[in-house]
Amino acid sequence: MPMTIDELKQKIEALTNELQSQKALTETVKNQYLGKKGHFNILAKVIAQIDNQDKKVAGQLLNELKLKLENHFSNTTSKKQTKQIDFTLPGLPQDVGHLHPISQAMEEITNIFEKVGFTRVRYPEVDWDWYVFESLNMPPSHPARDEWETFFVDAPEPAHDLTYDAKEPRKRHPSLVGGKMVLTTHTSNGQVREMERLKNPPIRMINIAKCYRRQQDATHTQMFHQFEGLVVDKGINIQHLKGTLDYFAEQFYGPGTKSRIRPFHFQFTEPSFEVDFSCHICGGTGKKNGEKCKFCKSGWHEVGGAGMVHPNVLKAGGIDPEIYTGFAFGWGVERTYTLKEGLNIDDIRLLYSGDLRFLRQF
Ligand code: DAH
Repeated sequence: MPMTIDELKQKIEALTNELQSQKALTETVKNQYLGKKGHFNILAKVIAQIDNQDKKVAGQLLNELKLKLENHFSNTTSKKQTKQIDFTLPGLPQDVGHLHPISQAMEEITNIFEKVGFTRVRYPEVDWDWYVFESLNMPPSHPARDEWETFFVDAPEPAHDLTYDAKEPRKRHPSLVGGKMVLTTHTSNGQVREMERLKNPPIRMINIAKCYRRQQDATHTQMFHQFEGLVVDKGINIQHLKGTLDYFAEQFYGPGTKSRIRPFHFQFTEPSFEVDFSCHICGGTGKKNGEKCKFCKSGWHEVGGAGMVHPNVLKAGGIDPEIYTGFAFGWGVERTYTLKEGLNIDDIRLLYSGDLRFLRQF
């Protein structure tokens, strides 16, 4: 059925009137008019039925209508938006980052030891076998090395000037020629390095660094951190070690926390000990509210190792064990920290997962 230009005008007017009566100018309503199958497109199809001579005018009328519709909806939407902004509302809080909990713990440990004259040092985290094992009284093939699940590095041969000179034992050991590089399995690699750096005692070192071992499960990560203390001077004995451990226990875990040392074996110390700290949750009693303390079960937490520096280690560092003695200790930052917080983290790997829901809590 053909359509006259007048009929088209009437339809346009009807559509415009209907538009005025629309109250809510939502996206849905906009779609009803301007969408693919909306009123406008349906109406625009009638152009085919208009007489050829009126087609031009019909086209213009439809264009005008389209502009009007578009203006109508865009005006209304922007007006609405302006109304919605309330400048008196408080702003959205900015996300403020903080140090990773393990970095916080390392800072705290550093401060505690610096207060009593230790110096924080850092040594390579990819180091020669010599510093990690051999200089620590663990010759090649020694079974004690098996305790450390080592990552070996495919590194070039060391330079030829690293040959051993018996009169200058501080120079690298012959085993280094063709020796391996490893990812440091413990911070004890810092012991001989510090002796070489200072040359003469007194030495009061705290070495905090990343360590690596081939193990990964709910209680281990392949990368973790340790801190290592080393004191070498004339007349250093076990009482100095015990006093230092007690000092750290009280400073880090709070007044009343005690340390305990139990006989053990390490190649690089003689005698050697395992170190425990009393549980600060139950005050070292092993009981809480009449029940077994859930956190420690026995009143004590085992944390790490310590001992009097083995004479062979002092010799490897160029220090005369007839004149000087020393003590050393070392253990994991992660464990030290999670004990402090009373945290029972089911899976230690969470610490390095980068999951903000977890990290924001610290
Ligand atoms: N390096 C040892 C480990 O990773 C811990 C240790 C034991 C460090 C005794 C020491 C020490 O300094 O004297 O298991």
